[in-house]
Amino acid sequence: MATFIIFGASGDLTRRKLIPALYQLHRKGRLPVGTRVVGFSRTQFSHDEWRTQLEASTREFAGERFEAESWETFASSIYYLPGDIGKQEDFVTLADFLEELEGGEESRRVYYLSTAPRFYAPAAEMLGAAGLADESKGARTIVIEKPFGNDEASARALNETVHRVFDERQVYRIDHYLGKETVQNLLVLRFANTIFEPIWNRNYVDHVQITAAEEVDVGSRAGYYDSAGVVRDMFQNHIFQLLMITAMEVPVRYDADAVRDEKVKVLQAVRAMTPEAIAKETFRAQYEGYLQAEGVAPESETATFAAMKLWIDNGRWQGVPFYLRSGKAMSCRTTQIVIQFREPPHRLFADGPQSTCEANRLVIQMQPAEGMQLHFETKVPDAGMKLRQTELDFSYQREFQGTIPEAYERLLLDALEGDASLFAREDEVVAAWGLCDPIIQAWEAQSVPPVYTYEKGLWGPTEAIDWMAADGRQWFDTCPVL
Ligand code: BG6
Repeated sequence: MATFIIFGASGDLTRRKLIPALYQLHRKGRLPVGTRVVGFSRTQFSHDEWRTQLEASTREFAGERFEAESWETFASSIYYLPGDIGKQEDFVTLADFLEELEGGEESRRVYYLSTAPRFYAPAAEMLGAAGLADESKGARTIVIEKPFGNDEASARALNETVHRVFDERQVYRIDHYLGKETVQNLLVLRFANTIFEPIWNRNYVDHVQITAAEEVDVGSRAGYYDSAGVVRDMFQNHIFQLLMITAMEVPVRYDADAVRDEKVKVLQAVRAMTPEAIAKETFRAQYEGYLQAEGVAPESETATFAAMKLWIDNGRWQGVPFYLRSGKAMSCRTTQIVIQFREPPHRLFADGPQSTCEANRLVIQMQPAEGMQLHFETKVPDAGMKLRQTELDFSYQREFQGTIPEAYERLLLDALEGDASLFAREDEVVAAWGLCDPIIQAWEAQSVPPVYTYEKGLWGPTEAIDWMAADGRQWFDTCPVL
């Protein structure tokens, strides 16, 4: 048996992601037998009122994957308890409620904090004080949404508070990028194939590009976004996770600690940035019109686009730059990793203007057109020794039936089953903040790099192209073909 308790149950994330994901797991018969879902937040609902509301939102977000019959069976295991995260007596009520619901039997529990971040620490403390972290009747897991802290110091402080109640093995810091099929497939690509790993290093790779571009602007989240900015919102978590998985060494085993041991070593090997390096090797910009969004400070310098060049000082990657980039209001939505290989050592066919020999490139499309393309040179038929770049193209959609599941499905199931592999460990989170903090602080304190502006619907500012060109390189700016 298992009980999944959501704090912040009346919030957006619960409606949009958590309940639809749990419902899909139920529909597919993947939820542990006897799983119950309990919502806890201040809004007053009866069980039925909450079920009715969730039915409407799940219909909306599940689309064709909604079936009335399976919803009915799922809904019968959903409960709601009004309560205030700030009130200890409400946690005592919750403890009694859970005890009764579980009939005093052994049951694994997942406490999911989907609240505003300022409640993470008090919620952990209240859970502890109400005896809810006690594991005598089954495992107790706490799942904490992002952002985990606002900088390194606050992340450390939050870890400390949470650890007073829960051991690290019970703490699951969620980064939904890790639940994406294509992110997990990166491990498979690298470590379940023979042909990629031998060339996945400084001897063959010229540079790596990791891009998370979004077409949407900050929309109604401007208030939050203005105090966060793109580095906190996308780099500290999602982009650094992609970086770690792209650059890590093979783990000794496929388990939570062995994988995370190797991941964190990547961040530990990233060269610390001096203020001079930050001025030259980071890039920031804001889209035109951002200042007019409601909730944005009048002269805000918050970056909605950033790029940075990182160096990983280890044997595999010495001298190979990693270009990371993310932005809102860009040309299209695409998250992709480009492994740009070196040019062949000898240009046998480089005779005359017809021959444009391009180096090999592996483009890994994380989303939305999940797949991978390997770019390579081919002789154009009947045209002398003219070459052209062509590609081997793998697409998830062509290869596999069915839709790719939402990242939350995998992550919630793992939390219920007690597998922490796809959750961030405390040292990863702290190390990621350790890399972001100096950049954020330098940006706030100095005028270099300048805050460029860009027109919506482009690949960021044109200066970002020049920034890359100064290194003799080019961004791979291609929208995925859906
Ligand atoms: C969230 C950020 O963590 O990730 C959002 O707060 C961003 O600003 C989102 O839009 C992107 O997620 P995805 O899965 O759409 O790439």
